[in-house]
Amino acid sequence: MRQDERLLHGSTFGTAAAAYAEHRPDYAEAAVRWALELAPGPRVLDLGAGTGKLTAALVALGAGVIAVEPDPAMLAELRSALPTVRALAGSAEAIPLPDGSVDAVLAGNAMHWFDMNVAGPEIARILQPDGILAGLWNVLDDRVDWVAGLERAGGSAAVGPRDTFSSWRAATFEAHLPGSGSVARFGSPEQAEFPHGQCRNADSLVATLATRAGILVMPEQERDATLRRIRDFLASRPETASGDFTLPMLTGVLRVRRL
Ligand SMILES: C[S@@+](CC[C@H](N)C(=O)[O-])C[C@H]1O[C@@H](n2cnc3c(N)ncnc32)[C@H](O)[C@@H]1O
Repeated sequence: MRQDERLLHGSTFGTAAAAYAEHRPDYAEAAVRWALELAPGPRVLDLGAGTGKLTAALVALGAGVIAVEPDPAMLAELRSALPTVRALAGSAEAIPLPDGSVDAVLAGNAMHWFDMNVAGPEIARILQPDGILAGLWNVLDDRVDWVAGLERAGGSAAVGPRDTFSSWRAATFEAHLPGSGSVARFGSPEQAEFPHGQCRNADSLVATLATRAGILVMPEQERDATLRRIRDFLASRPETASGDFTLPMLTGVLRVRRL
C-alpha cells in the first residue's frame, strides 16, 4: 500500500467509532499472554489503541497499561469504556512518553498503519532494553469452507491478506521493519496463532465487516454493493442464514525484541 493510501485508510476508523466499539472482536487471552511473556516488566503501551479492545484485555491480565491513539473519536470511546486507564492522544510516530518508560508495546490490528521508518525508532526510544514489540491481528479461519466463501464474496477490501489464517503470517512478517535503507531496531520476529471466535449473526457480521478500513473508504454505492454481496452470501449458507453462530477466528501475534 502506498504511503498516501496508508494514511487515508489508517485515519478512517473514527468515522465509525461507535460501531467499531460495538462490533469489533476482542483478542484471544492466550495470544495477549504470549505477546507479553518475554517482557522484562509489567509496563505496557497499547499503541493505536482505538476504542480499547486490546487495552481491556491487558487490564484484565493485570498489566500496567497506557493507551495511545491518534483519532479523537476512537479515543473518546476508549475513555468512556475504560475511564481508569491513562489514555493519551498521540501516534506511533510521535509517542507522548519518556525514553525507556515501558517494557512492552502492543498494537492490536494497528501496526500495519504505522510508518515504521519513523515509528520504529520512536517505539525503540520508549522501550526498555530487551523490551518487546508485538503486533496482534484477529484473522478469519479460512480453513473453514464457509469462511473461505465469505472472503471471496467480500473481496479484498473486506477481507484482505492480513485478515486470514492462510496469509496473515506472510502479510505481517515484516510489519515491524522500516523501509529499505533504515536501521532495524528489533531482532528476528516470532509468529504464532491462538484459537478465537466471536458470536455473530448475519446482521452483526455485516456490521463488523462494515468497520474495516477498506470498506469505510469506499464511495457509498460501492460500499452498499459490497455489503449487499456479503449479506446475500450469508443468507445462502446454512451455517449463517439464521440465528447466532461463532465466527471461526484466530488471533495471530508477531513479536520482536528491541535490539
Ligand atoms: C483497526 S483499528 C485497531 C484499534 C484497536 N487497537 C483494536 O484492537 O481494536 C486501528 C487503529 O490504529 C490507529 N492508527 C492509525 N494510524 C496510526 C498511527 N500512525 N499511530 C498510531 N495509531 C494509528 C487508528 O486510529 C485506529 O484506532
